[in-house]
Amino acid sequence: MSERLYVFDTTLRDGEQVPGCQLNTVEKIEVARMLEKLGVDVIEAGFPVSSPGDFNSVREISKAVSEPVICALTRAVEKDIDAAADALKLAKRKRIHTGIGVSPYHIYDKLKSNPEEIIERAVAAVKYARKFVDDVEFYAEDAGRSENEYLARVVEAVIAAGATVVNIPDTTGYTLPQDFGAKIKFLMDNVPNVDKAIISTHCHNDLGMATANTLAGVLNGARQVEVTINGIGERAGNTSLEEVVMTLRCHKEFGIDTNINTTLLNKASRLVSSLMNMPVQPNKAIVGRNAFAHSSGIHQDGVLKNRENYEIIDPKDVGVDESVIALTARSGRAALGHRLELLGYKLEKEALDEVYQRFLKLADKKKDIRDSDLLVLVGDMDSHKKSFIKLKQLQVMTGMLVPTATVILKFGDNERMATATGNGPVDAAVSAIKSLINDEVVISEYLIQAMTKGSNDVARVHIQLESGNRHAEGFSAHTDTVRAATEAFIDALNILNVTEKQDKKSK
Ligand code: KIV
Ligand code: ZN
Repeated sequence: MSERLYVFDTTLRDGEQVPGCQLNTVEKIEVARMLEKLGVDVIEAGFPVSSPGDFNSVREISKAVSEPVICALTRAVEKDIDAAADALKLAKRKRIHTGIGVSPYHIYDKLKSNPEEIIERAVAAVKYARKFVDDVEFYAEDAGRSENEYLARVVEAVIAAGATVVNIPDTTGYTLPQDFGAKIKFLMDNVPNVDKAIISTHCHNDLGMATANTLAGVLNGARQVEVTINGIGERAGNTSLEEVVMTLRCHKEFGIDTNINTTLLNKASRLVSSLMNMPVQPNKAIVGRNAFAHSSGIHQDGVLKNRENYEIIDPKDVGVDESVIALTARSGRAALGHRLELLGYKLEKEALDEVYQRFLKLADKKKDIRDSDLLVLVGDMDSHKKSFIKLKQLQVMTGMLVPTATVILKFGDNERMATATGNGPVDAAVSAIKSLINDEVVISEYLIQAMTKGSNDVARVHIQLESGNRHAEGFSAHTDTVRAATEAFIDALNILNVTEKQDKKSK
C-alpha cells in the first residue's frame, strides 16, 4: 500500500497570475470542475483581497465544487484574512493560506523588518486565520533562500500557533534538488512538532528544476505538492502536476502515490492551454503533442514491435489514444506498412518497397505526410479526391450585427455553398462548413497566435478536431484571422478524410 501524497493545485492562483492567462469566473469554474474530476485534494482558487473579480471567483468556486478543499491566499495581514474567510464562507471544505517572507532578502529588503518580528507576524496571522477556519496553511515565502536554522524556528512557531500545513516555497526557483531535499530533511529532523502538520513543497521553475526539487522534497518527507497544470505560473512557471504525478506512478519503488485520475491529464492540459491561451510546448513531458510521437525509423520499428521499447508510459494512461508514428523522411518500411494497413492496404514486400521509394521522394519535399498523400502513393486517387476539400470563397459580416458567414467549398470538382450565423465570424464560418459535411466533428482545441506585433500581423491558427475516436490537427496562417481559422478547420477536415453531405441540390 502506497503512502498518500496530497496534490494542491494552484493553476487558478499562481498560474492565473501570468500576464495574458487571466480567466473570467465562468472559465475558472470550468477549470475547477476539471480539477475536481482529476482528483486534486486542494484547489487554490485565488487571492480574494487582490480584486473583486478574484473574491467573486473564490466564492463561486466554493459553491461549484464540493470534493476538494478550496483554499484562498492572503498576506499575513488581517484585512486579507478577513476577505479570504468571507470569500470561502460557502465552501464545504476550506483552507486559508497565509504567510510572509523568511529569506534575508525578504526580511530586510522587502519587508524592512527583522527575523524576530517576522516570527511574531507569522504567528499572529496563523492565530487570526484559525479564528475563521480549522485548516490553515502557512507559507514561508522564499524559503529556498532562507537559512535552515531560522526556517526551522519559523515552522515550529507557526505549527504551535495552529498551522495544519506548512509550505516551503522555492519562490525564485534557485535551489538544486539535493539542497531542497536537504532543507526538507532538516525540517523533518529539527522541528520538534513537525508531526503535527503536513510539510508542503511549492517550487518554481527558473532553472528548470521545479519537478526535480519537488520530488526531492517528497523523498525527504514532504507530503503535499503545490503544482499547476502544464506547469504554468510566474516567470518560468511552477512545478507541473502531470510530471510529478506520472513520475510517482512510473517509480513505484518510492511507495508514494496521489489520488489523481491520470487518464484525464491530457484533457485537463488541453482545457487549461486553450482557456488560458497558453500553448503547450510540443516536447513537454507527458502532455506535449510529441510526448508519444516517434519519428526516427529505428524508434518506429522498435515501438511497432513492442511499445515499451521506446515508451515508459502507456499513452492511454494519460488520456492519449495511441502513440503516433509520424511519417517523415526518416521513417522506415515498417512504419509505412503499418500506416497503410491502418488505411486498409496490406502490401506484399515488393509492392511495399516500390511505394516506399515513392514515399521517400515525397517525404524529402513535404514535411508532413498525410493519409491522403499515402492514398495517392498507393494509387487510390479516388478516395483522395473525394475527401479533398478546398475553400473557394469566404465572406463574413461581423461587427455589431449578428455575425454571418458564407462559404463556398470545393469537394473535388463539386462546388457547394452555405451560409450560417454564429457568436462570432469564426463560429459562423465553422457552422456553415459543418452544414456541408457528413461527419460529426468537434473542435477540441483552438489556438490563435500572433507571429510578431501590430494590427497588420499574421495570425497562426492551430485547431484540433475530434470525430468519434479519431482526431486531427489543422494549421493555417494569414493576416486575416477569420480566414486563417477557417482554413485551419478545413485542413483538419482533410486529414480526417471528411466527406461531403449528399444533397440533391448540389451542383
Ligand atoms: O512562490 C511563492 O512563494 C508563492 C507563495 C505566495 C505561496 O506563490
Ligand atoms: Zn509561487
